[in-house]
Amino acid sequence: MERGLSYDDVLLVPQYSDIASRQEIDISADLGKGAPLEVPIIASPMDTISESSMAAAMASHGGTAIIHRYLSIEDQCRHVESLPQEAIVGAAVGATGDFEERACALSDAGVNIICIDIAHGHHVLMKTALHTLRNVFGDTMHLMAGNVATLEGINDLADWGADSVRCNIGGGSICSTRVQTGHGMPGLQTIINCAKTDRDIKIIADGGIRNSGDMVKALAAGADAVMCGSLLSGTDEAPGKILQDIDGYRWKSFRGMASKEAQVDWHGRYSSFEGVATRVPYRGPVGHIVEDLERGIRSGFSYSGARNLLELHAKAKFTQQTASGLSESHAHIMSRKW
Ligand code: XMP
Repeated sequence: MERGLSYDDVLLVPQYSDIASRQEIDISADLGKGAPLEVPIIASPMDTISESSMAAAMASHGGTAIIHRYLSIEDQCRHVESLPQEAIVGAAVGATGDFEERACALSDAGVNIICIDIAHGHHVLMKTALHTLRNVFGDTMHLMAGNVATLEGINDLADWGADSVRCNIGGGSICSTRVQTGHGMPGLQTIINCAKTDRDIKIIADGGIRNSGDMVKALAAGADAVMCGSLLSGTDEAPGKILQDIDGYRWKSFRGMASKEAQVDWHGRYSSFEGVATRVPYRGPVGHIVEDLERGIRSGFSYSGARNLLELHAKAKFTQQTASGLSESHAHIMSRKW
């Protein structure tokens, strides 16, 4: 049986560095076919994360967002059309129903990335959807697909026509897929396994990324970019009102797209639910958060002596840590018994 490592199980071993300034470090990722990112961070296609405000803020900080698909085709297109021409933006479609019509309308609205967004992406419906959209767009549109958890999964999606693949099943902060279905694969192991692909495909590490350290680990393991929900939640740009409780604390809603609450809102009923709904502290503008993450990623590249993503992939060395290593790795003054 294969052992599956997650982000907390490893550290990157610091390497000799001849980088004088972190400004020498280029953390950009070219996802190909009209999707260059200066900062390799993508906001998740979730109804409490990505609409036009998040997309505008992410693009202005060099990243991007995938506008969620739980709204009418017209409303989703309006979110895309409201963005400046230079902004790189993606939008999600499903793999059944109106997905072809939606994808064509989004393309006309000016979207740069179409993301075929299904929970279990290594699936015959994904095969049909990718074939259909590749036939429609030829090589003119970046097609992102997912999610998958295995090398076989990423290889098949690449062969079916994807340009990038979201990797990780059930590892997100609001996911309950692994508990509900018993299926999944620890997040970092997913990236390590998917990075063995010999196909020309970009890897998006999706879900379970809690800080810039996790981002650097995912990129070092072979990802080209990371996708985040919770890290960007609770911000001004996340859809939804600020909620204030009786003690004066401010919150915003954040929920999995397969949660009971999201399914009832969007479909009027729920089937198997594989996510949770919660509230998170209100955190102000997302820009500060993205800037801190960007600084953390740059610093991480420098610790591995890497000037860019290619060098990071080549130079990074992981070490496995024990439970005491993990507790040493977190600031531990607060838990010390004096
Ligand atoms: P983070 O950890 O960044 O994860 O908040 C965001 C990612 O979680 C996925 N996602 C879900 N997965 N049930 C799941 O199993 C859900 O309800 C759900 N909603 C979102 C998705 O890949 C997202 O990018």
